[in-house]
Amino acid sequence: MANRRTVAVVGATGRLGGHVVRVLEERGHEVVTLSRSAGVDVVTGEGLAAALAGTDIVIDASGTPSADEQEATAFFTAAAANLHEAGSKAGVERIVSVSILGIDASTGGYYRAKVAHEKALAAGPLPVQILRAAQFHEFVEPLVSWGRRGDTVHVPLMRTQLVAGAAVAEALVDLAEAPAPAPGARPPYPEIAGPREENLAKAAELVYAARGEQVTVVEVSDPATPDRELLEGGAFVAGPGTTLAGPTLEEWLAGA
Ligand SMILES: NC(=O)c1ccc[n+]([C@@H]2O[C@H](COP(=O)([O-])OP(=O)(O)OC[C@H]3O[C@@H](n4cnc5c(N)ncnc54)[C@H](OP(=O)(O)O)[C@@H]3O)[C@@H](O)[C@H]2O)c1
Repeated sequence: MANRRTVAVVGATGRLGGHVVRVLEERGHEVVTLSRSAGVDVVTGEGLAAALAGTDIVIDASGTPSADEQEATAFFTAAAANLHEAGSKAGVERIVSVSILGIDASTGGYYRAKVAHEKALAAGPLPVQILRAAQFHEFVEPLVSWGRRGDTVHVPLMRTQLVAGAAVAEALVDLAEAPAPAPGARPPYPEIAGPREENLAKAAELVYAARGEQVTVVEVSDPATPDRELLEGGAFVAGPGTTLAGPTLEEWLAGA
């Protein structure tokens, strides 16, 4: 086993954060869980200094449910600045955080907010490791639910390479266990995606079928969809340097 470290997980109750906590514990690390429900707000800074005292590494898996660019940018830039400030004062060695694969050319919305997140993290002063992940298997249902009206869901045509949150958590903990990087962070950032390309509408059908829900999925290619060319053109699927990790969505739904 790697050296035992004390790791603060921000967003420990989330889709990704829950897996990160489990993987860290399985690998023998001491875990401090941070979220608003645990009295720590990474945006206002409330409770952060006390929670980070004595921790070696921060893994930031926090996030906002807002897809609005301004709101999400405000969340992520405040979180990054507060983690750097409180982490530096607490003597934290580094921050490990997670972004999204393929966002460079995005023109607005949540993906642009994640570009701002990466820049705020990279500004330092602490060393930062950023992992860019594809959309999670766990996120298919929340992602498409905005387009649901009754038993019909309208899903934008999107090529994606869905990955299990558990696989992303393993990769984040691998980064936390790797030798400490230089201060700041510089692209290209490492990427992780699932084992194969998926179509979001077909993925949604699989998810609803596995839940036994009678939902009609209608795929739409709407010129008004933000970043439609990127969604449809494959910007969010793996490139040559992307690490691929199972299980597939079907295996995950089957409980693999
Ligand atoms: N979902 C995906 O498919 C995907 C793909 C690639 C990358 N990512 C990135 O992965 C990260 C986590 O995503 P997720 O889907 O796991 O998010 P999530 O399920 O929405 O979890 C968010 C976590 O952040 C915590 N949180 C929210 N506001 C907070 C605040 N002000 N202070 C402290 N904690 C706060 C939440 O707990 P409380 O509500 O208790 O505070 C929760 O534990 C995000 O950065 C996201 O951009 C996600």
